[in-house]
Amino acid sequence: MRSIRHVVAPVAAILTLLGCSPTDGAVLPTRPPSAGAAGIGDRDFPLDGNGGYDVTHYGITLGYTPATKRLDGVTTIRARALQPLSRFNLDLSGLQVAEVSVDGAGAAFSRQGDELTVVPATPLASGARFTVKVGYGGEPRPITDSGNLGTFGFIPTADGAFVAAEPNGAKTWFPANDHPADKATFDFEITVPRGLTALANGEPVGEPTTSGGRTTFRWRERHPMATYLATATLGRFELREGRTAGGVPNVAAVDPAHRDSLDKLYTVSGEVTDHWSEVFGPYPFASTGGVVDDYSAGYALETQTKPMYGGFSPDESIIAHEIAHQWFGNSVTIQRWQDLWLNEGFATYAEWLWSEHRGRTTADAHFAALHARPASDAFWTYPPGRARPDDLFDDAVYKRGAMTLHALRKEIGDRTFFALLREWVQRHRHGNATTQQFVTLAEQRSGKRLDALFDAWLFQPRRPA
Ligand code: ARG
Ligand code: ZN
Repeated sequence: MRSIRHVVAPVAAILTLLGCSPTDGAVLPTRPPSAGAAGIGDRDFPLDGNGGYDVTHYGITLGYTPATKRLDGVTTIRARALQPLSRFNLDLSGLQVAEVSVDGAGAAFSRQGDELTVVPATPLASGARFTVKVGYGGEPRPITDSGNLGTFGFIPTADGAFVAAEPNGAKTWFPANDHPADKATFDFEITVPRGLTALANGEPVGEPTTSGGRTTFRWRERHPMATYLATATLGRFELREGRTAGGVPNVAAVDPAHRDSLDKLYTVSGEVTDHWSEVFGPYPFASTGGVVDDYSAGYALETQTKPMYGGFSPDESIIAHEIAHQWFGNSVTIQRWQDLWLNEGFATYAEWLWSEHRGRTTADAHFAALHARPASDAFWTYPPGRARPDDLFDDAVYKRGAMTLHALRKEIGDRTFFALLREWVQRHRHGNATTQQFVTLAEQRSGKRLDALFDAWLFQPRRPA
């Protein structure tokens, strides 16, 4: 199949997956063969994530004080070694590390850029389960990308923090294997000055507790989650809580500046959650909702169970988009960033479906309007099946990605198309997936050869016929 060349890992990535970074051995003799690689093997983000282990759980305990912007954290990571490990890396950006332990024993550590290297007192055997505890603190600094990715990570605001980390800003607030290929469950314990609210993924664990003028909020996400989807947005919030008509617990929270949007956010998020549950299959998580903060991020993020809207009152279309991501992106997660159309193309297509569902513009009309753009339009030069690291969120990844799905739907028919979407989310539920797997499943279920269609829509720098 033509598109196969786009998914063959280059040699460097294979070496990295094997735990030998390309700069290993002869070049850096201080790095022993049993060192975990400094990157997980994404050729576009070579230092993101790490090799040699798999995280199963993050326990993040944070204190944050908006007045001083001081964060104090203890993150406890449960992981399994995938190779013998005399040392391994975590990703952490800024902040000071006070201490690291592995299985309760003090471990040596060093920092280099955003890499935190941990040397356990005793090397870990392949297959060993181990626990790493990192104590750290300081003033978190979000990442401001030189390309067009904007500002992301832990972003201090006037009354707290807006925490939205796609693609690789989780490392600005907790030590992590910061790449979507390694999903894990999360516990959060966030302590803030009394009167503020801390919102994280999943569901509350008990009632908040207050002592000494500070309140602790506990949240648990018991389904696997990519690190970029973790949040700890905090500040002044007005809340509305209940259940959707379909019975899914629903939490909406808005900064007081956006109080007029609380009811709409709550209601539409619930309606969308229930509707997508019919179209795409059962809702993959245990609660839904949304958060509007007063920080103007210029984007929203589908933070698991609670999408974040940065500084604006969301309309139906973007709510439909972020909630669709709970299936496409959050439950079924990309294995590497170049496949981002599997998130954004699908969520954008969901916007079209929602618009049609509400009796507005049909998916067909959305497609036609875009296809009418002249062949000379720069829009057609970006092949969405190969999202570029410096321009991940290009319009083409979203819109031409959505057009790809519409072209597929026309080719294989509604019945097969919607059955395919449901099988896709069911098959990869709480896992990871690649473009190649989607193409293969589409061919199997339709009984058609679809390589030319996918190649034209995803991989060619020109307008498909
Ligand atoms: N995934 C988000 C959405 O489409 C966009 C995130 C943009 N992130 C960024 N750093 N600019 O809903
Ligand atoms: Zn999106």
